[in-house]
Amino acid sequence: MELHEKVDVKDLYLKKPEELKTLDNQNLEIGGFVRNNRCLGQVGFLSVNDGTCFDNIQVVYKNTDKDTLGIRLGSSVRVEGVFKLTPDAPQPFEIDATKIELIGSVGDNYPLQKKKTSFDYLRTIPQWRMKTNTFNAVFRVRSTLAYYIHQYFHDNGFLWIHTPILTANDCEGEGQTFNVYADEKHPTEFFNKDNVHLTVSGQLHVEPFALTYGKVYTFGPTFRAEKSNTTRHAAEFWMVEPEISWAHMVDDEDLMEDFLKYVVKHTREECAQDMQFFAERIDKDLPARLDEFVSKPFTRVKYEDAIKILQDAVKNGHHFDVSDIKFGLDLGSEHERYLTEQVFKGPIFLTDYPKEIKAFYMKANPDNKTVAAVDLLVPTIGELCGGSEREVDYDKLLNRMNELKMNIPAYQWYLDLRKNGSIPHSGFGLGFERLVMLVTGMQNIRDTLPYPRCYKDMLY
Ligand code: 4AD
Ligand code: MG
Repeated sequence: MELHEKVDVKDLYLKKPEELKTLDNQNLEIGGFVRNNRCLGQVGFLSVNDGTCFDNIQVVYKNTDKDTLGIRLGSSVRVEGVFKLTPDAPQPFEIDATKIELIGSVGDNYPLQKKKTSFDYLRTIPQWRMKTNTFNAVFRVRSTLAYYIHQYFHDNGFLWIHTPILTANDCEGEGQTFNVYADEKHPTEFFNKDNVHLTVSGQLHVEPFALTYGKVYTFGPTFRAEKSNTTRHAAEFWMVEPEISWAHMVDDEDLMEDFLKYVVKHTREECAQDMQFFAERIDKDLPARLDEFVSKPFTRVKYEDAIKILQDAVKNGHHFDVSDIKFGLDLGSEHERYLTEQVFKGPIFLTDYPKEIKAFYMKANPDNKTVAAVDLLVPTIGELCGGSEREVDYDKLLNRMNELKMNIPAYQWYLDLRKNGSIPHSGFGLGFERLVMLVTGMQNIRDTLPYPRCYKDMLY
């Protein structure tokens, strides 16, 4: 079996019409998986997907080729043939096969058949689901989004800092952590610490780098032992956390908007085949929503004003499960979605939250009631990003940590950053899977993760 002569189907689809003309009637070879095999009269057709792009390539063979007639969906094949342009057919080209070699056949228990399969069922077979149209597209888009995230930051002078996964600090202070020890019977033996866990955020560890290099970011797995069995929470998810110096909250908002628009715009262009599929089969409103996302300025709203809007909504008969709405309420996804979907009909920056419902490190506003916090809320999802300006006043930060009864010695290293060459700085965290949901229209976070780890949900 020769593999080095194979062409990638993606390269064929990327060729310009004049380049394709020079390939017409040339011999070539492809390798891939059979998505469909049917016979019409004298000829048979294999739809082959080689994994390099969403679209399949059609392979035409003679119906006298009994071996090929019997090739089942999911089998891997190597095809030699003549490349033909097909201007009158739905597909731009096909391969007239001269040789079809079955490389790996498919057993009777192969779980993917032609009939439509539910996402619920596919979640039980994560090792196969990427071979379906939907998941094939999702994971390609996921990878492309990650690429443009790095590209944006690299091109704008940010350093990528690899913050640790094992940590003895709890950035969000919620105690929703997975503990780590090497030996269950002697939990402190390995690190001489009794509070080592998987990180919930790289922010605390990336701040010293922002205070040195100016513009930095983290992009890696984060873990939360949050018992939320929703379509938007995972126990293991990826987070992107830029941190910028010489920056107030408004600069943080500007960065968030510019960054997200760039990443979404470029991914849509590059993954055009996948995006067309999502628009046709997953969510018909997706293209319009994303057009607006990349072209219209995000609305900026204060938490206090949002509370008034929600109170008015209740007065006017709108039903929320939590309808006792007053200043201090930690908004639920039903409130966030009402604001972004019904009221502002687009992404909104919600700012200046009460300090009681936000993390200890956020900068206190002069009213001493609210903090310089900003959440980005988007239609269909709710919270996509959460960020803030950081408190850089040593005494204020220490007071707040004492109010929250935090273990000060464990965070002294972080506090000391405020004493030595400190700078105003801000940052935010983007839930990467929620971005994948936004761009693909998938409605469950489990369908954006290659192997989802959620509450009560860990396969292998
Ligand atoms: O709002 P969060 O908790 O903010 C932080 O962790 C800050 N330290 C970020 C920073 O300022 N550097 O989380 C940030 C984002 C959320 O907006 C949400 O999109 C996502 O991470 N997120 C989750 N995504 C999936 N599953 C979960 N359980 C998530 N928890 C948060
Ligand atoms: Mg948040």
